[in-house]
Amino acid sequence: MSSLIIKGGNRLEGEIEVQGAKNAVLPILAATILNGGKNVIHNCPELRDVKITIEVLKNLGCKIKQENKVLVVESDNITGHTIPDELMRQMRSSIIFLGAIIARCGKAVVSMPGGCEIGNRPIDLHLKALRRLGIDITEAHGYIHCEVEKLKGDNIHLDFPSVGATENIMLAACMAEGTTVITNAAREPEIVDLECFLNHMGAMVRGAGSDTIRIEGVKKLYGVEHEIIPDRIAGATYLSCAAATHGTMILRHINSGHMNAMTAVLKEMGCRIYDEKNRMILTAPKTRLRPVKRIVTMPYPGFPTDIQSPFMALSSIADGTCVFVENIFENRYQHVEELIRMGADIKVDGRIAIVQGVEALEGTNVVAKELRGGAALIVAALSADGITEIDNVRYIDRGYEAIEKYLSACGANIKRKE
Ligand code: UD1
Repeated sequence: MSSLIIKGGNRLEGEIEVQGAKNAVLPILAATILNGGKNVIHNCPELRDVKITIEVLKNLGCKIKQENKVLVVESDNITGHTIPDELMRQMRSSIIFLGAIIARCGKAVVSMPGGCEIGNRPIDLHLKALRRLGIDITEAHGYIHCEVEKLKGDNIHLDFPSVGATENIMLAACMAEGTTVITNAAREPEIVDLECFLNHMGAMVRGAGSDTIRIEGVKKLYGVEHEIIPDRIAGATYLSCAAATHGTMILRHINSGHMNAMTAVLKEMGCRIYDEKNRMILTAPKTRLRPVKRIVTMPYPGFPTDIQSPFMALSSIADGTCVFVENIFENRYQHVEELIRMGADIKVDGRIAIVQGVEALEGTNVVAKELRGGAALIVAALSADGITEIDNVRYIDRGYEAIEKYLSACGANIKRKE
């Protein structure tokens, strides 16, 4: 099992080319099975979650070629309609394949995703919506069996703007008979990227990025070439690393328009941020960061739950108190215990965490328990006095491409121990 060894205190200064967005590439790879053609995906991040997605595609019969960040997926010969339990367990967001498999094969079998590191992650909204498209769904012995003769468009209102459910409906509805309208849809930039990919393929999807998405079913889709959008969460994580070390960071290949909720908080903390087209420059204050009164996670365009933990690491060393409210996932404070081991002063009550900034954190042995919580420990360790060893790096590898290489190129003292 590998760990990261970080000697804190180095001021980060450098430039990072931001990876393609993990949360955009996963649904887009699922979408490739809809068209039965050759798809060339550029700017594909080299992540553990992408590797698992490739295994799912191969399992379904797709041919895959990969060269650096270009992935070629040929989906003419789909031979399966099942996602086996061992793949589903490795990545619960594989549920996103459900809509695509059913649209292509007329049937799909996936194992129940069950609980996970950051909470229960139920899929009731996915299933309720897919049923409205005429899919017959039965749940038995830990598996979900879906079957449909002909998908039929309908009006679907989501009780909560779930990202995965919105994507699953878009995938299933592309080739349904008639029109599907999703209201209270999720508005994340990754959903806009999916719409863009589907429309290149010949689908007729309108409205992604707003709360109403309209999908006119079409008869045929075609293989396409597409470039994945930059990863706003990875970008904000690198900005946090610079902010924690009084550093300066230039992000290349970033869409600053996707980052507003996060950069607003960094500015409030005292960082100066300039953004140009595709580029962003952060200069952190030489003094302690200013505290932000409240950070409340919300669906996009609100403050993202995915960056809550790295920003909590920042607040741990700010000059005052910050209250966090986690509204999206009920179990997303697992990094708190580890930050406390490093000397942070944090009290949690349900979905609320009160962070009283301390002068400095101290390096020690900590454990990453999930992806973003692991990233928070890196932010904390870079600023801490002494050496921190972060165990369970495999969680961090799910969403960050060779994070130690990017950070050491900016002056961090960070090494991987296998
Ligand atoms: C996606 C992102 C994840 C991000 C999250 C919220 C991917 C691969 N993952 O996850 O990084 O943190 O959006 O921005 O894109 N819910 C239900 N029933 C459902 C579906 C969801 O109750 O059927 C609840 C969830 O438990 C959670 C909330 O809705 O409390 C948000 O979940 P959702 O937006 O679906 O997140 P994911 O798509 O799983």
